[in-house]
Amino acid sequence: MIQGICFDLDGVLIHTDELHYLAWKGLADRLGIPFDRAQGDRCRGISRMESLEIVLEHTDHIYSAEEKERFAQEKNEAYRAMLARLSPSDLPADVLPTLRELRRRGYRLALASGSKNAGLILARTGLGRYLDAAADGRCITRSKPDPEIFLTAAKMLDLPPERCAAVDDAVAGIQAGRAAGMVTVAIGDSAAHRAGDYDLERFGQLLDLFPGPGKEEGL
Ligand code: G6P
Ligand code: MG
Repeated sequence: MIQGICFDLDGVLIHTDELHYLAWKGLADRLGIPFDRAQGDRCRGISRMESLEIVLEHTDHIYSAEEKERFAQEKNEAYRAMLARLSPSDLPADVLPTLRELRRRGYRLALASGSKNAGLILARTGLGRYLDAAADGRCITRSKPDPEIFLTAAKMLDLPPERCAAVDDAVAGIQAGRAAGMVTVAIGDSAAHRAGDYDLERFGQLLDLFPGPGKEEGL
């Protein structure tokens, strides 16, 4: 029986996945390195430094650890400049009504995002009010597909992981949720890969999947 739902942030609750892509693309363009959408999709869910390695795939140039640090910082500053312009109107229309209804049905809701910028996004959009707990990149040492972030979110909800569902747009995120022992719900890119126990086309379909704790889940 599912009692808690743990949500990834970028690409699930808000389209900041696109802003990550644009920030990495800006860095790649400045360095004269080709970087395409398929590479951008492979950056979903993984850490900033792992993403940078994907950005640097198509160059023969060997960059030092210091240069890589500076590149990651440059990308993060460009990304945060975009986040500074976010407002509640940037939330997809069905996100808040869906979260509100899931809570009304009795589910406990948590954030499970590997991003160190999650707090800024919650504050800019007002999303924080709709969640019972928030685990983000500052709480963990291992990024998805390691289960640490989902295990941390379940602990914050005071629920065993098997009583939780993990909702994620990243294939790495679905792997992390599964490794944590959760029911996995894919949306966006991970759903296109048919990676989840359930693969959703729309966020609002969570209401079809989760009728309430104690009732059988299913689409
Ligand atoms: C999320 C995103 C990744 C990003 C990671 C770290 O998992 O899906 O694309 O690399 O967070 O984000 P940060 O904002 O800390 O660089
Ligand atoms: Mg994501």
